[in-house]
Amino acid sequence: MPQPFHCTAYQHLRFDYSGPSFLNEPLFMPVPLLDLNAQNLSLEAELKSVFERVLRSSQFILGPEIEAFEKQIAQMIGVKHALSVSSGTDAILLALMALDIKAGDEVICPTYTFFATAGCVARTGATPVFADSCEVSFNIDPTDVEKRISRRTKAIMPVHLFGQTAEMEQILALGRKHGIPVIEDAAQALGSKYQDQSAGTMGLCGTFSFFPSKNLGGFGDSGMLVSNDDAVAAQASLLRTHGAKPKYYHKYIGGNFRMDPLQAALIAVKLPHYDGYTSRRQANAAYYTEHLSKLPGVAKSVAPTFIAALDNHRGTNPNVRILLPSACENTYHIWNQFTLRIRGAGQRDAMRQFLTERKIGSEIYYPIPMHRQECFAYLEIAENSYPVADLLASEALSIPIYPELATSQKDEVIEAIAAFLNQ
Ligand SMILES: Cc1ncc(COP(=O)(O)O)c(C=O)c1O
Repeated sequence: MPQPFHCTAYQHLRFDYSGPSFLNEPLFMPVPLLDLNAQNLSLEAELKSVFERVLRSSQFILGPEIEAFEKQIAQMIGVKHALSVSSGTDAILLALMALDIKAGDEVICPTYTFFATAGCVARTGATPVFADSCEVSFNIDPTDVEKRISRRTKAIMPVHLFGQTAEMEQILALGRKHGIPVIEDAAQALGSKYQDQSAGTMGLCGTFSFFPSKNLGGFGDSGMLVSNDDAVAAQASLLRTHGAKPKYYHKYIGGNFRMDPLQAALIAVKLPHYDGYTSRRQANAAYYTEHLSKLPGVAKSVAPTFIAALDNHRGTNPNVRILLPSACENTYHIWNQFTLRIRGAGQRDAMRQFLTERKIGSEIYYPIPMHRQECFAYLEIAENSYPVADLLASEALSIPIYPELATSQKDEVIEAIAAFLNQ
């Protein structure tokens, strides 16, 4: 029997064929989770000329390329100081060091996040105190944050996960009430907003990553620390170069946290395109939402914000098998990830396997929350302390959302999800 092609993009090529059987295997169009070449090679000529410019300048540490890039980022997000650094991780570490966070202190951060957030806290000698997450936004739950504040709490560090800001009004109010600074881990959220304020600019300081998979993806590791506070920015600047002032005189112990000028100059090539990247990601999210929500068993996250609408999600409707992410009220979502929740024991892993067989990339952000990491076993956290984070870790699956994704590729993803639900 002739086999039809299963790939939407190739539907116009359907034909009858009765050759060798391997040729009758269904043919799926690969859809990678991320295609860096699609973006970077479209800028190839400009990137090469920038490389030549930096090469010929021989300015390989700090200097005008760095200053220009910092100024552009500061202008873009509306912040007084922007300090380029070696990675998003180092930006967090530097922020904590600039606030003099050390052994004996506690820093509250989400348990459902990338490791760097909690890892940096522990590297300063302080204790990470984890808070649970909100089901709808995946972000830290301010109500749970409040419960975990103690007299040793020296910072609250929300993470703006997947490109959407955390519930900042409540978090900032907690900070004010208890006199605790807020550090925003905005690694995934450059340009996202909460009530018209840019991620990273609302707390005492904020941090970004230009890791290649981020919305402003660099050509290696790099990051940024931003602040409206002169003293924090000055201290971070000092610590970025071993705390030396003047050269060879060290009142503080810092590190080498500098970004390379080459990196800054290369990333700057992408800045004029950044709004375009964001709107394409938003269009992709809208496309997925429109088409996936029509499938039986798929529900839109209806909640404008958090807890109120959770009944709709959490078990009251057994027919809901997949929950789509949503942009919460007050937020401008830049969709670093489009993260589904696949409900039911083992279902997320089954769907991931199904997508992999169809050559569709996906990733689990994040399979193991921080409270379950071996390196934090010393915290002796009781079982069931973080029920939402545990649930999200078992259900979350991110699908391709990068700006250059073709409509045919999105259709391929939608068709595969429909086929999974139809099995
Ligand atoms: C939430 C979060 N924090 C911190 C980081 C660390 O950034 P980097 O990989 O640039 O060190 C990342 C990125 O990987 C991240 O997603």
